[in-house]
Amino acid sequence: MCGIIGIVGSGEVTAHLVEGLRRLEYRGYDSAGVCTINNGALDRRRAEGKLDNLVNVLAAEPLIGHIGIAHTRWATHGAPTTNNAHPHATAEVSLVHNGIIENFKPLRDELIARGRTFESQTDSEVVAHLISERIEAGDMPEIATAAILKRLHGAFALAILFRQYPDLLIGARLGSPLVVGYGDDATYLGSDALALASFTQRVAYLEEGDWVVVTRDGARIFDAQDRPVEREVTISGVTGAYIDKGNYRHFMLKEIFEQPVVVAQTLQSYIKPLDGQVALPIPDFALSSIQRITIIACGTSYYAGMVAKYWLEQFARVAVEIDVASEYRYREPVMEEGGLALFISQSGETADTLAAMRHAKAGGQKVAVVVNVPTSSMAREADLLLPTHAGTEIGVASTKAFTCQLAVLAALAANLARAKGRLSAEQERDIVTHLAEAPAALNMALQQDEPIQAISAIIAGARDVLYLGRGPDYPLALEGALKLKEISYIHAEGYAAGEMKHGPIALIDDLVPVIVLAPSGPLFEKTVSNMQEVQARGGKIVLISDATGVAAAGEDCLATITMPDVHPLIAPIVYAIPVQLLAYHIAAIKGTDVDQPRNLAKSVTVE
Ligand code: G6P
Repeated sequence: MCGIIGIVGSGEVTAHLVEGLRRLEYRGYDSAGVCTINNGALDRRRAEGKLDNLVNVLAAEPLIGHIGIAHTRWATHGAPTTNNAHPHATAEVSLVHNGIIENFKPLRDELIARGRTFESQTDSEVVAHLISERIEAGDMPEIATAAILKRLHGAFALAILFRQYPDLLIGARLGSPLVVGYGDDATYLGSDALALASFTQRVAYLEEGDWVVVTRDGARIFDAQDRPVEREVTISGVTGAYIDKGNYRHFMLKEIFEQPVVVAQTLQSYIKPLDGQVALPIPDFALSSIQRITIIACGTSYYAGMVAKYWLEQFARVAVEIDVASEYRYREPVMEEGGLALFISQSGETADTLAAMRHAKAGGQKVAVVVNVPTSSMAREADLLLPTHAGTEIGVASTKAFTCQLAVLAALAANLARAKGRLSAEQERDIVTHLAEAPAALNMALQQDEPIQAISAIIAGARDVLYLGRGPDYPLALEGALKLKEISYIHAEGYAAGEMKHGPIALIDDLVPVIVLAPSGPLFEKTVSNMQEVQARGGKIVLISDATGVAAAGEDCLATITMPDVHPLIAPIVYAIPVQLLAYHIAAIKGTDVDQPRNLAKSVTVE
């Protein structure tokens, strides 16, 4: 998703701006641009596509200046062309914008009626013109910006340069995050602390409605009512060291292989294996009074929530409702007094999830969040913070964050069950023992990498792929299909195995591989019956099961993938590995951009 960086310094800033953009690349983008003030004029370079294109433009036409802004754009309004790339500029004002200005159409019409002309189809350019008009009429930058911010509806993070004021940068946020970074001889704006990691770890997170005047020596922050405010300066903890791919070809593969370690790291904060107890890292929270939980998330995090629904209902006997964030917010959900709304997010910044979280809070819900980025908006606004410790996830398609989310959610389900008196000490010890086995089981699952690579070569030519699973492995089937779509661009669907006969069975022929997730356990036989329905129609099955399951049902399959014998509780955590590896290898064979798949963004900060 779009990334912002701004610098007011004493030396040349262009190389630093590009360095900041490099750190934001992982978020996904389709064009990029930079603007500085040089010799009393705004000077811009922009390019479609990857950052290297912009670097080439800058090599041909270098950009000079001690102050500048830069942007990676993920297209919303208007195609990813150079003209639509940020920064957008008039003769007086240049700006970069994340988010969506929802009322841009009437504002644009109004500006056109006053004779202004536009070079892009973006919503962002209207902001440049509106502020510019006031500057041209003689307003100071602060006055002009404060006035125009009040006319904007929607979500925005902005960084604005003013031609006549080469020592000053103005930032503003509503809905989209913006961070002020304090360096020794420069001050920065960034869409996250990672963008500023090479320059400074001393950051202040702007709050909703805040705007800020940034100079080389510091920053003056104002709230939505234009009152001067202080925002705490914290140490981001994000170091300047580049996260590299090590010996792996892609970040995604590296992150898949990190899972035994990061799941163990996460579990450390949630279980005490020696005592046989779960222990959430939160102060006493009245878990026993919770009657109903609503889980809300997007994408892969939503599928983690679907697995958690099975666990929470099975162990704690608490009714769980689940919704994607973009639906929850607008469907007028019934919010019971004191209900718990549980949000799940890797980034903690997904616009739909964040908006749904605020909506739930306003509706009187206690808000818990399972989140990977500890400095994110969701982490800061939650009543109950349940961190995952997956480390920075760079691959756009989420992998290690997912299994860490599952680990936390399993521990939460057990903790809730205990608080409700539904778990004996012995049952709790049992759950803890199985959870503690997860990292080793993940390691064993990873040993199937080579056979999975060989199977991927067979599937890579398919046009459609079906994934089937039952119970908590059904969300895994959905996640498998999502992963494949995201990075290999092959159409895939995940289905509850028992539901296949109500529709997708019509798709079955010998060209559609059907990937069946069926660990041994209470639901195994049922899933095998569904497999037979596929085979009876000439369908080709890839069975993912343990040795017992493969021995029992693997005979007529196109291929089998053998997972370690694990307790059904941790099967969804372990079976994530083969679905991730299949998607990865198929994409790698097809030669797609695995870490930054087309059209996708890591952190979707627009609705
Ligand atoms: C984007 C990413 C997905 C992710 C989803 C939710 O679509 O590409 O990988 O699952 O957002 O993101 P979150 O950060 O809220 O988990």
